[in-house]
Amino acid sequence: MNAARIPLVAGNWKMHHGGASAIELAAELTRRAARIDGVEIVLAPPFTALAAVAMTCAEMAEMEHTTPLRVAAQNVHAEDKGAFTGEISPPMLLEAGCTWVIVGHSERRQLFGETDAMVAQKAKAALAHRLHPIVCIGETLAEREAGRALEVVLGQLAAVTDVLVAGKGAVVVAYEPVWAIGTGKTATPADAQEIHGAIRKALAERDPVLAGKTRILYGGSVKPDNTAELLGQPDIDGALVGGASLDAASFEAILRAARQLLDRPARTE
Ligand code: PGA
Repeated sequence: MNAARIPLVAGNWKMHHGGASAIELAAELTRRAARIDGVEIVLAPPFTALAAVAMTCAEMAEMEHTTPLRVAAQNVHAEDKGAFTGEISPPMLLEAGCTWVIVGHSERRQLFGETDAMVAQKAKAALAHRLHPIVCIGETLAEREAGRALEVVLGQLAAVTDVLVAGKGAVVVAYEPVWAIGTGKTATPADAQEIHGAIRKALAERDPVLAGKTRILYGGSVKPDNTAELLGQPDIDGALVGGASLDAASFEAILRAARQLLDRPARTE
């Protein structure tokens, strides 16, 4: 982490907690996060729970005298409205109380055929509506074993860089090696830093200011016991957490590990 960027930890609930249990989890997380300052926290429940979770976060924050946890959608359609059965548009997400949206998650790319071009369109639409995108990129195991991890990740980044540069909003990139998602395997902190550093360098070649302020999250089996090591790397600015975000105690422990890093003496290199 780097003191110039506020760390961000996002919980991707995937297809879990769509109703009453989502409200309970959001309320519990607000209570647990109330005294953890300095870390931006985003929850990404399923579409059906977005509005209720956003309302719960706002109400609970008032009671706890704290900043509300922010709410993200897990996907978005690039058009504002129209005959797109089953899709949800950026204005609808805003209406539901979202301020963030995850785009290009590897499950969307792999299971639902999202291409780099679609991911770029979604990020562009989100930014146009002042929704902050969390753009996910990452290589598969086969790509890593073939020595192509960096090439794949930078290719996915290049497809969306123009949109991020033009968008002018707060932008977050999440590096999630596909082989580390839900598998219990994580990239070593050094391997993750290598990719994060390369992502920042590629952004800097286009826009040094954007590169300096873009938070680059790591995702893929982030747990309380590996958070400090991963987020201790200079270009890792937070985490996108799947499985461990469904349990209030482990999500809180991840937030606390991130918070503790802020108290480290500043690095001078
Ligand atoms: P995981 O998921 O933490 O369960 O590996 C991360 C993600 O898919 O964003």
